[in-house]
Amino acid sequence: MLDIAFARTALPKSGALALLAHEGEKPSGLWQQADEATGGTIARALEVASFKGAKGKTVSILAPGAGIARVVVVGLGKPAEIDERVLNEAGGAVAAAMAGEAVAAVAVGTLTAAQAADIAVGAALKAYRFDRYRTTEKAEDKPKLTKLSVLTADAAKARAAWERGKAVAEGVFLTRDLVSEPPNVLTPAEMAKRCEKLAELGLKVEVLGPKELQKLGFGAMLGVSQGSVNEPRMVVMHWNGAGGGKGKDKEKPVVFVGKGVTFDTGGISIKPAGGMEDMKWDMAGAGTVVGLMATLAGRKAKVDAIGLVGLVENMPSGSAQRPGDVVKSYSGQTIEVINTDAEGRLVLCDVLYYAQEKYDPKFMVDLATLTGAIIIGLGHEHAGLFSNDDTLSQRLHEAGKATGEKVWRMPLDDAYDKQLRSEIADMKNIGGRPAGSITAAQFIQRFVNKKPWAHLDIAGMAWSGKDSPCVPKGATAFGVRLLDRLVADHYEG
Ligand code: BES
Ligand code: MN
Ligand code: ZN
Repeated sequence: MLDIAFARTALPKSGALALLAHEGEKPSGLWQQADEATGGTIARALEVASFKGAKGKTVSILAPGAGIARVVVVGLGKPAEIDERVLNEAGGAVAAAMAGEAVAAVAVGTLTAAQAADIAVGAALKAYRFDRYRTTEKAEDKPKLTKLSVLTADAAKARAAWERGKAVAEGVFLTRDLVSEPPNVLTPAEMAKRCEKLAELGLKVEVLGPKELQKLGFGAMLGVSQGSVNEPRMVVMHWNGAGGGKGKDKEKPVVFVGKGVTFDTGGISIKPAGGMEDMKWDMAGAGTVVGLMATLAGRKAKVDAIGLVGLVENMPSGSAQRPGDVVKSYSGQTIEVINTDAEGRLVLCDVLYYAQEKYDPKFMVDLATLTGAIIIGLGHEHAGLFSNDDTLSQRLHEAGKATGEKVWRMPLDDAYDKQLRSEIADMKNIGGRPAGSITAAQFIQRFVNKKPWAHLDIAGMAWSGKDSPCVPKGATAFGVRLLDRLVADHYEG
């Protein structure tokens, strides 16, 4: 994690300095001081670059004078349009432009303390890198930035606001680490072990192994797991932050459920070889739930939340499940497994049903890299949102806009549900090619008993092939900030 410090605004005597520009406004304060100290170099450079402060525009000036090594000017866009996202992205732009500096400062000018913290969050998120397995990389090829000082009028207040932001960044990094790990390292058992570490944050963590799952009757989830030598796990993480209320006054918990397929070969319905390595991140739904729970605990959220993850590996082998097998889910409903590659829903259905039965949730949100079809429908811009509850949907939509982790609601309808009818069991696990993401959601809905529920199909969002303003390419941790925001805005104290 980038080391973030807050300090009173003063022109540094050396090092690297970032300045934030409001579109259409004359620079003032420290900016003017820096320009004067460097004999007008900054203003001239911006003139040459035709820089007007537009959002996302950055100018880097090397050795402008006055002992300063580098000045980076980042546009914030129009003052009226500045929100948390704009600030996070500006912070990300600062971190990207300063990657070659060991230490840098960013002057936030007239921004408030809370806004200064938003800049810090964006910078921290962008500075993330998963380099645990790079052993021969030369020092000069590595990003150098380790410390960022945020120069602001009210450093104490900004520092307090950063405490919250830091908990979010830490949760995001935990998710990114889990999702980035190779599948030989991150088996279900290893992931469960990493969940157990969250006890340090005050979470209560339960781990269930194959015997316990067998006893409970998790036939659908165990069917997926049976071809792998790596044993399944279910992990339940409890955060009790609401504090008050006993008996019927006690608020119901909010519940999050994640698909955790640590590697998805497709099983006997095996996937093509090309790109199969991507299926290491088929546990991103679970990874997100873990990071979210860490965030809620890290910032001591005033909410009772439970996170459940179903962890399995989907492999072909002599003991693997076959197309045509009929399994009995924890709910009692039977499923004809037509395609062993439609395994995520078989994991979710047991964990979700367990969550609902055991914890009487206020609502449940599940996250899953569930279908390739959602990438065809929504690309890499929105997660698919499926829900039986308009209020929950609306809230997720708004949280998405606020955090930039956007969701788009898709339909559910009995007409789609019919596609799941089986000749031999209560349902099939696939509904054919048309509307593949919707029939997957319909399948899950068969395990929801009128509880407010939302399903997020994050197959297009969990991993990114390109860098973006505050998310480096690779594991995105999509959903951690979205759901943290959902909780913060509607379900706390
Ligand atoms: N994990 C995949 C979905 C996926 C695809 C995630 C691409 C991320 C990127 C899922 O288990 C799967 O294989 N789904 C099948 C369902 C089909 C067999 C009905 C799919 O999408 O092809
Ligand atoms: Mn699959
Ligand atoms: Zn899968």
